[in-house]
Amino acid sequence: MKTMKSFFFPKCPVKIVLLPGLLFITASLAAQPVTIPIVTDNHAIVLQTDKSNLLHTVYFGKPLADPGEYEVVSAGNNFNDDNSGIYDAAYTPSGTWNLSEPAMQVTHADGNQSLELKYLRHDILHIDSNSSLTTIILKDPLYAFQVSLCYKVWKKENVIEQWAEVQHAEKGSVILRKYASANLYFTNKDFYLTTYNSGWAREMQPGETKLLPGLRSVDSKLGTRAMLLQSSNFILSFGKPAAENEGAVMIGQLAWPGNFKLDFEIDSYRNLRVIAGVNPYESAYTLPANQVFKTPSLIYALSNSGTGEASRGLHNWARKYRVLDGEGERLTLLNNWEATYFNFDENKLKGLFKGARELGVDMFLLDDGWFGNKHPRNGDTAGLGDWQENVKKLPSGIGYLVSEAKKEGLKFGIWLEPEMVNPKSELYEKHLDWVIRQPLRPEKYFRNQLVLDLANPEVQNFVFGIVDNLFTKNPQLAFIKWDCNAVIYNAYSPYLQKKGLPQSHLNVEYVKGLYNVLQRIRARYPMVPMMLCSGGGGRGDYELLKYFTEFWPSDDTDPIERIYQQWDYSYFFPAIVTDNHVTDWGRQPLKFRIDVASMGKLGFDIVTSNLSATDRAFAQSAVQNYHTFKDIVWHGDQYRLVNPHESDISALMFVSKDKKRAIMFNYLVNSRYKITATVTPVVLKGLDPDKHYTVKEINLYPGSTSAVSDTRVYSGDFLMKIGYNPNVTLQRTSVVLQADAVE
Ligand code: DGJ
Repeated sequence: MKTMKSFFFPKCPVKIVLLPGLLFITASLAAQPVTIPIVTDNHAIVLQTDKSNLLHTVYFGKPLADPGEYEVVSAGNNFNDDNSGIYDAAYTPSGTWNLSEPAMQVTHADGNQSLELKYLRHDILHIDSNSSLTTIILKDPLYAFQVSLCYKVWKKENVIEQWAEVQHAEKGSVILRKYASANLYFTNKDFYLTTYNSGWAREMQPGETKLLPGLRSVDSKLGTRAMLLQSSNFILSFGKPAAENEGAVMIGQLAWPGNFKLDFEIDSYRNLRVIAGVNPYESAYTLPANQVFKTPSLIYALSNSGTGEASRGLHNWARKYRVLDGEGERLTLLNNWEATYFNFDENKLKGLFKGARELGVDMFLLDDGWFGNKHPRNGDTAGLGDWQENVKKLPSGIGYLVSEAKKEGLKFGIWLEPEMVNPKSELYEKHLDWVIRQPLRPEKYFRNQLVLDLANPEVQNFVFGIVDNLFTKNPQLAFIKWDCNAVIYNAYSPYLQKKGLPQSHLNVEYVKGLYNVLQRIRARYPMVPMMLCSGGGGRGDYELLKYFTEFWPSDDTDPIERIYQQWDYSYFFPAIVTDNHVTDWGRQPLKFRIDVASMGKLGFDIVTSNLSATDRAFAQSAVQNYHTFKDIVWHGDQYRLVNPHESDISALMFVSKDKKRAIMFNYLVNSRYKITATVTPVVLKGLDPDKHYTVKEINLYPGSTSAVSDTRVYSGDFLMKIGYNPNVTLQRTSVVLQADAVE
């Protein structure tokens, strides 16, 4: 059995109980410091109790060579925290002597609002050679109320997932007013925070700022589609602005598709406190005795060598441990949304099938507009909620389309937006009690629709039934695009009202209801690929990605915009989970658009019969090429080489795990007359310095010759020190290079 070594607690009179795989430590009453290091390959968080048994974060940084020294890391600290309480608390309570921003605020069963949390014991569960779970139990000395702080670590990937579990045995319910997932403390000085401002078709716009004394919050109050305006993704850089290849950084996300809040506070010592969790805004939660409330997770990757390494760790973790079928395959596709919008019938779709077959993609994806009869879905004002095929558009039904697609050698996928309803629908007419709306106020719509009350188990059954019925009738359906286009206005749950539960539970119960539906879907249909879409990228979320294979980053498919968006999403997500479609947005040629969409999971949303013969021939060969290198993009390591935010060009590459193959994407991102970025070569990364590589340009447009064709063989050492010039010019705005190791 692998356990923590006893030298972590040499002077601590603790009781140690050994169970298989589990080390369980209990503090004695005469408290000596208990030191709890939580360690990955390149990082350590060290928590330690003081003489009153309060638990502090005493270290956050590189691991020590001698773990025995963790217990003395706090010896040189001289904090005097009488001014506003405990800045460095591992989980900051409120209502007692602590006056800092709390992680937790409660009202006890007797109405008292004070909370003190003292270390009781901790357990370490060794899950396997790479991962472990440390659970630390803190308890109020006065009330039967406790919080378990949970830290799951993956050593090799340097990823930590942190959450809290709250329970009590008071005589009555306790109201949780704030219940953070994580409360971190950093003493590094000079903190730079990158956050992401968003909006429809302009998702993930980064902004980096040095944190100044005081509190900076990033939050969402949108209910669903929570990341529409701000994202719960962030990058923290310690000591200097975030850099790709050097410096200590943390890349994080609060994995929660509902209202979230991230607080970054520089305290009076100029240290940084971070408190992240469900947004306490209108979300007080009444917890009955002896039930466990589990918060969402804060997930973060750490590196001492910049954002590139942190991203690769996060990508490896996501593919191996988090995303559904993260290490599997994906389906290339043709989607009909921009090709037809709501205006289609069977024949038009069958015409598109032919185009999909000619392109060489795996699947046809039928988008919005296929359903509704009393209120046909011929636009976005009606029909949402009525999930029966529209008999005028699709008289032979979905089953017929599935088999027609199969004749063309294509799989068939379908669009759903199952959490929503148009007021002009039979669902609304029959089930007003299933709709989130204030009963006595005028309805307010977002994209002409309202959100269903997923707190209600009957609504959960309905939503599960939509998917289940589709698969029961059409077992060969191969894919679902799960859309979510509205935020929650007039938050009010008829179900919570009926049950006499507080309306402030809606934020949490909605999301729990959604998870419940997804768990049921996955229990019955474990592997069917599903795309998470939210009117663009409002839901790129690591909790939902347990159930989804991929997500749609933005409706903005202008390839220039996409270069930036895909770049910014790439800090957080591996390319295999980002769906990129070639559309008619933007003014770039087809080659440019296909090359950009190839930096993730490739799809198309065009009418191929509108393409010129040369464009069509190019598209076919580019799809064939994609099938030969997609494995590197999906499963390899990603290196961001030239940042489009800082240069005339963008360059990004993927390297196979065995370092035998690499694919490098280079684009011109402006049209200045002189392109200074390619005066010198672009330096490659991630290759084997001892291997030798050929470099060739692929995805050449018919009739063009490569400006970089050569037969020379380069060492990995050369390519990673001197580099290779893709010769991006105004005439060559998009260049894809492939490097292959020679034996
Ligand atoms: C929003 C999505 O982002 C689009 O791709 C499309 O599916 C529309 N909804 C359909 O209404």
